[in-house]
Amino acid sequence: MLALPDIRLATPADAAGIADMSRDCIEHGLPWSWTAARVLQAIHDPLTNVAVHARRGQLQGFGIMQYGDDDAHLLLLAVSPVARHQGLGRGLTAWLEHTARTAGVRRIRLEARADNLHALAFYEKQGYVRVGTASGYYEGVVDAVQMRKMLVGDGGAASDDLATR
Ligand SMILES: CC(C)(COP(=O)(O)OP(=O)(O)OC[C@H]1O[C@@H](n2cnc3c(N)ncnc32)[C@H](O)[C@@H]1OP(=O)(O)O)[C@@H](O)C(=O)NCCC(=O)NCCS
Repeated sequence: MLALPDIRLATPADAAGIADMSRDCIEHGLPWSWTAARVLQAIHDPLTNVAVHARRGQLQGFGIMQYGDDDAHLLLLAVSPVARHQGLGRGLTAWLEHTARTAGVRRIRLEARADNLHALAFYEKQGYVRVGTASGYYEGVVDAVQMRKMLVGDGGAASDDLATR
């Protein structure tokens, strides 16, 4: 069984830290779109979960997932550079997937920057497969790789990471 990091839903007090981490870790080289105001909207949105892990009051990582009837969209995921390679990205992903699975969602989709080879490798390790590309997806300047993970009906990829890792 995976030793899960302590992950909780974000509160409004987390919005500024999440926005800063998005700007620095994800949106570098692009206009800053996930501002604190947008993150706050996501925190208040009943169809969106913003999950965070904090240590001694310091935000270490977060993930944002929007839920539909059949699929869910992993919008953002980041771990602070000092907290990487300790299983937190996997833990946040598993937490959000577990919630999606419980809600009856069948698959997760996401887009990752095509120039972010680390993220692509990370997501492939979590069972996501590449299904296409979207040219100029990020502000017309950076392409996206589109990825999917089936939560049901796809053998190994359907296993519940919270229960099996
Ligand atoms: C991608 C990211 C979230 C990974 O977080 P992390 O906490 O370091 O990842 P974990 O420690 O949970 O690693 C989980 C697995 O992915 C693999 N992995 C993690 N980072 C990797 C990398 N840079 N390259 C290849 N594999 C990687 C690990 O080897 C690990 O494998 P294991 O399950 O066999 O141990 C983190 O590097 C990050 O925040 N990057 C910047 C933001 C970003 O790119 N976000 C994603 C796009 S929105």
